[in-house]
Amino acid sequence: MKKGVMRPGHVQLRVLDMEEAVKHYRDLMGLIEMHTDASGRVYLKGWTEVDKYSVVLREADSAGMDFMGFKVVDEATLDSLRQELIDFGGLDVQDIPAGDLDGCGRRVRFTAPTGHVFELFATKEQTGKYGVGHHNPEAWPRDLKGMKATRFDHCLLYGDDLDTTYRLFTEVLGFCLAEQVVDPEGNRVAQFLTASMKAHDVAFIKHGEKNKLHHASFFLETWNDVLLAGDLISMTNTSIDIGPTRHGLTHGQTIYFFDPSGNRNEVFAGGDYHYPDHPPVTWDADKLGKAIFYHDRVLNERFLTVLT
Ligand SMILES: [Fe+2]
Repeated sequence: MKKGVMRPGHVQLRVLDMEEAVKHYRDLMGLIEMHTDASGRVYLKGWTEVDKYSVVLREADSAGMDFMGFKVVDEATLDSLRQELIDFGGLDVQDIPAGDLDGCGRRVRFTAPTGHVFELFATKEQTGKYGVGHHNPEAWPRDLKGMKATRFDHCLLYGDDLDTTYRLFTEVLGFCLAEQVVDPEGNRVAQFLTASMKAHDVAFIKHGEKNKLHHASFFLETWNDVLLAGDLISMTNTSIDIGPTRHGLTHGQTIYFFDPSGNRNEVFAGGDYHYPDHPPVTWDADKLGKAIFYHDRVLNERFLTVLT
């Protein structure tokens, strides 16, 4: 958190059918439905999250990610980072007024060189941990559904200009490179970036097209929860990508599946941690299969090509 960026704050996803999407994110993944705004967007959160929401669903004609937002420590930090984003050059920095997302303060939006839209904000309504609060809290709320996802954790994004995006996230926003995949010529083809102790808050994989979403990921408490998520995926006939398995990168225990609009989701448990003095973990590109799927050691075609 060298520059005051704390954590992923929210992701806005495009979905084709809101009713189907809410069933998926609320009833299957176990997010808490918090709010619907005047334009019909639905706001949800993982039960351990203190802010009012972290996932915003917007009905649209195509699936994908509208934007991902990071929360910074305070309004003064938002001002200083806004200026640094402008000074970086070429980012199309925009000011989004408070209230554009219900309950959220002003946001500073920019388009990264990979084509993805990000934003920073400092203020969002806080409703506390769902069902338990923060005063003598019980261990967990007893009315959780489905996979009981605890929090929105990270996005994996595909795009073209990883090098400039790396400079942006490390030099301006203060992220650390936790893990990377490097090709034989020494070029970074995947970069896992963290603003905290987590293995990643956002990750990028090199790809010919700009602005593609690979997955939005949510944290579960245990490996057994990942197994139960797999059971629920079968019980509900939900489209599965792979898993349960383990990643080589980050060593998280994972399962990938798709929402009804084709957006890939991940739920995962475990994983490594990162401190700013840790050297980045490096995987060679010829070990990419093992880096992604530690047990199979081969990539499935969908991992590389099914994007929204
Ligand atoms: Fe992930």
